[in-house]
Amino acid sequence: MAFFNKRENSGKDSATLKIPDHLAIIMDGNGRWAKKRLLPRSAGHKAGMDNVKAITQAASDLGVKVLTLYAFSTENWRRPDNEVSFLMKLPVIFFNDFVPDLVAQNVRVTTMGDISQLPDATQAAIADAVEKTADNTGMFLNFAINYGGQAEIVQAAKQIAAAVAKGELNPADVDQGTFEAHLDTAPLGQWASPDLMIRTSGELRLSNFLPYQAAYCELYFTDTLWPDFDQAALLAAIKDYTSRDRRYGGL
Ligand code: IPE
Ligand code: IPE
Ligand code: MG
Repeated sequence: MAFFNKRENSGKDSATLKIPDHLAIIMDGNGRWAKKRLLPRSAGHKAGMDNVKAITQAASDLGVKVLTLYAFSTENWRRPDNEVSFLMKLPVIFFNDFVPDLVAQNVRVTTMGDISQLPDATQAAIADAVEKTADNTGMFLNFAINYGGQAEIVQAAKQIAAAVAKGELNPADVDQGTFEAHLDTAPLGQWASPDLMIRTSGELRLSNFLPYQAAYCELYFTDTLWPDFDQAALLAAIKDYTSRDRRYGGL
């Protein structure tokens, strides 16, 4: 667990913050942010994308090891075609603009979810960002795109069943480690499970985000809409997390 002395960073107060190794964020409320301003929903998504840059920098500066951002769920295909196609363009705009900064910040881009169903240009932009940042050694910036936790669990079960059917695996040997090796978070190793999950916009649900990995995650809900969730809001969430007593069933 990393510790961060706020005094050294801001010079304002001496509270010692406990920094979550793996921070997961459900970035919700872009549409409502735009609606409040009488703007189209796409303007909210654009503002939300700009905020990803700010929060990535802030999390990396704080010493977060993995920042997992829920960008598009397997259920978001249900939205109108024009909104889905705008959302599919955002990674192209985001990475074109931001990859040099990510390289400078030593951030590694990774993804979770079925990328193969995305438009070709979106897949290419993601592949390019992953490749250009692959040798970086700092924070993982892990985007959940076309990600759904239930599909992830079913996929893992399918792969394990196939290995059993082929005689490569004995059902008696299937344990948590076997299962976790088949989840999308396996490449994150020791940081596969989030320590803190933040959801913006006041909704009190997980919406199919990391249902397996969140088993012992600390949850933080705020009414702030994602485009307004700034560095101060992130510090408030981490301050709250710092005060939590994580017992994992013990005393
Ligand atoms: C989150 O904002 C972004 C995505 C789900 C892609 P929303 O678009 O869900 O914003 P609201 O919930 O309608 O305000
Ligand atoms: C969750 O937000 C998905 C993302 C933030 C990408 P939604 O806005 O899609 O969730 P629901 O529909 O309110 O549950
Ligand atoms: Mg929403």
